[in-house]
Amino acid sequence: MTDLLQLNDATHNKRNFWRIAEGVTYLNHGSFGPTPLPVQEARQQWSQRLAANPMNGFVRELDHEVELAKAALASFLKCSPNDLLFIENATTAMNVVAASFELRPGDEVLFNDHEYGAVRRIWERACTAAGAKLVTANLRPFHDPSDIIEPLLYAVTPRTRLVILSHVTSATATVFPIRELMAEFKQREIPVVIDGPHAIAMQDFSLGELGAAFYCASLHKWLCAPLGTGFLYVAPEWQSKVRAPMLSWGRPAAGRAATWQDELRWQGTRDPDHYLAVPTAIQFVESFGLDHFRKRGFALACEARTMLEELFGTKAIAPADMAWCGTMVAVPLPPSELPLPKADSDPLQVGLWETARIEAPVMFWNNTRHLRISCHLYNDRQDLRLLEETLKKLHGRCW
Ligand SMILES: Cc1ncc(COP(=O)(O)O)c(C=O)c1O
Repeated sequence: MTDLLQLNDATHNKRNFWRIAEGVTYLNHGSFGPTPLPVQEARQQWSQRLAANPMNGFVRELDHEVELAKAALASFLKCSPNDLLFIENATTAMNVVAASFELRPGDEVLFNDHEYGAVRRIWERACTAAGAKLVTANLRPFHDPSDIIEPLLYAVTPRTRLVILSHVTSATATVFPIRELMAEFKQREIPVVIDGPHAIAMQDFSLGELGAAFYCASLHKWLCAPLGTGFLYVAPEWQSKVRAPMLSWGRPAAGRAATWQDELRWQGTRDPDHYLAVPTAIQFVESFGLDHFRKRGFALACEARTMLEELFGTKAIAPADMAWCGTMVAVPLPPSELPLPKADSDPLQVGLWETARIEAPVMFWNNTRHLRISCHLYNDRQDLRLLEETLKKLHGRCW
C-alpha cells in the first residue's frame, strides 16, 4: 500500500505553494489557514483590476464576476447557486441566521456542548431577546453514531424550534454523523442550522442534498480561500425569512431579478477580491486530488493522535476512523496541578511557540485542555517529530 506520508516530492513541498514564515511549524490550519501563493496571486489580480477603475468594477463588472465565482463554489458544494451567498465568515453567516429566525417566548433551541463558543454566544443572545431557551445536550463518549443521536433526540421537546449542529466540531475535532442526524430531524420536521467551517473540502458531501435549513461556513480553513471568505446557504423554503442585521441599499444590480440575497450582498463599498479568488482555491485543492488531500491529512492526523495519546496517557474522544475524524485531531492533556490558563495564554500553547516556533492551539473543553493538531498538505512527519521533541522538553513546565 502506498505510504501517503512519503510524498515529499515537489507537489507536496510546502515551500512551493505556501510562504509560511521561516522557522515556523504551522499546525493550526483549522483556526486560521495560511493562504497558498496561487490564491494570493489571484486575489491580488482582482484587487488591482478593481483599483484601476473602481467605477467600472462596482457598477459594471464585478457583480457578474462574483456570480461566476459563486457558481464555481456551488458546483464544488453540490448545491444551487441560488441558495448560496458569499459572506465574510461563518460567524457573520450565523449572526444572519440568528437575526432571521423568529423565536417566541418558551421556544427551545437545541444545542450541544461541542459547539463553538462564539456560536453559543450568538444563540444565547437570540434566545434571551426572545424569551426562548437554549437547551444543551451533553455528548460523550463516542463509539457509535447513536452516542450523538440519542442524547440529542432525548433533549427534543414539543417546544424545540431549531437545532444547531457542527458538521466537524472545533475543540474536539470530531466529525458528527451529519446525514443520520439530518434524517432524524427531518422526520421530526425540526429545521437544522449547520455550523460547517471545518467540513468544507475536508468532508465529502452534497450540500444541496443534506437537508439543512441553513449552513454557515468559512472558506479560509481547509479550502484555502483567502481570509475573510465564507458563505451562507439557505434552503429555498427559508429564503423569504432572511433579514440582514445591517442595512445597505438592499437592491439588485441593474438588470438582475430581485432575490433573497439582495439585502446582504451589497453592504456598502467592500472589496470583493477575496470572493473572486475562491475558484482558484477550489482548483488549487482539487489539483492535489480531493481524495488524496483527505486521506493524507487523515493519515498524518492519526500519527499525531497516536504520538500524543502515548505521550499524554489519554485518549481522543472519537474513534480513529475516517467516519469520525478528518484532517485534524484533538487529544486531551493529562490532569495537571498548573493553574487554569486564560484564553490564548495556555502555558503549553505559549511554550510550543516560544521554545520551537510551533503554532498549535490548546483548546479548553469539558474542563480539560486539548492539544489540537491540523494537518494540511504542507505538514509532514518532520513537523510531528519536532512537536514530540518539544512536548517532551516542556513536560512538567507546561503540562
Ligand atoms: C466550528 C466553528 N464554528 C465557527 C467558527 C467561526 O469561524 P470564523 O472565525 O471564520 O467566523 C469556527 C472557527 O474556528 C469554528 O471552528
